[in-house]
Amino acid sequence: MSATTGVLYGIGVGPGDPELITLKALRVLERVPYVFAAASTKNDYSLALNIVRHYIAQAEVEPLHFPMTSDRGILEQAWEANARKVLEVLQRGQDAAFLTIGDPLTYSTYGYLLKTVKKMNPEIQAVTIPGITSYNAAAALANIPLTEGEESFYLVSGARGGDRLREAIATSDNVVMLKTYRHFDKIFETLEELGLLDCATCISMCGLSGQTVVHDLRPLRNQKMPYLSLIIIKRKGRGF
Ligand SMILES: C[S@@+](CC[C@H](N)C(=O)[O-])C[C@H]1O[C@@H](n2cnc3c(N)ncnc32)[C@H](O)[C@@H]1O
Repeated sequence: MSATTGVLYGIGVGPGDPELITLKALRVLERVPYVFAAASTKNDYSLALNIVRHYIAQAEVEPLHFPMTSDRGILEQAWEANARKVLEVLQRGQDAAFLTIGDPLTYSTYGYLLKTVKKMNPEIQAVTIPGITSYNAAAALANIPLTEGEESFYLVSGARGGDRLREAIATSDNVVMLKTYRHFDKIFETLEELGLLDCATCISMCGLSGQTVVHDLRPLRNQKMPYLSLIIIKRKGRGF
C-alpha cells in the first residue's frame, strides 16, 4: 500500500437514535476529512448522515446514490461509479468514512461498495466499525429476547414477500424479517396462514420520531408500513 493512500472506514451509525453509535465510530467521525453517506436517488437525503450530523467536525460530506432496484446491471453501475468517487479521495491520501444505518455488514450497501473498491484497488486498507443493528435496537425497545437457551435465530429479508418466512420459521425458533415494507400485505398473509400473527411484533422507525411497537399484528391488516419496519417472530410465543 502506498504511504499516501487513505484508509476507508465503513461506519455503522446504528438504526436511528444518535446515542446508539460506538465510541470508535465517533472518534473516526471527529477526525476524518471526508465523509460519504448513502443517500436516496430521489434527493440527497441520507438518514445515516442525519443520525450523526452533529458528530461530524469539519469533514467534507458527499452523498452517494444507490438505486433501490433489484436490476443487477443498474446496481453494478452504481457500485462502480460510487467506488470510483471513494477511490479518488483515498488515492489522494485522505481518509474517508462511509456511513450506513445499523451495522455496515448487515444488508448494507457498504458490503458491495467495499468489494468494488477492493476489486478496483486491492491495496486499499479498509477498517469496518460495527454498528447496532436495527433488530438489536428493536428487540431492546420492545423488551423481547431474540434467543434464549438452546434456541436458534434466523435473519431473513422480506423484499420478495412471505415465502422465505415459511422456510425460516420451519427451521428456527426465532425469526427476524427486515425489509418488510413493500410486501407487508403478503408477509401478513403468510403469518396468518401459519397462525403466527400473535407471536409477531412489528417495530417501525425504531429510535426515530414516530417510532411504533405493535405486539400481535392483527390490528395491522391492510396497513401500509414505513420503509423502516421490521418484524420479530417468536415461534413459541412472546411469553407476555
Ligand atoms: C437495507 S436494510 C439495512 C439494515 C441495517 N444495516 C441493519 O444493520 O439493521 C433496511 C431495513 O432495515 C430495517 N431498519 C433499519 N433501520 C430501522 C429502524 N430504525 N426501525 C425499524 N427498522 C429498521 C428495516 O427493515 C429496513 O427495511
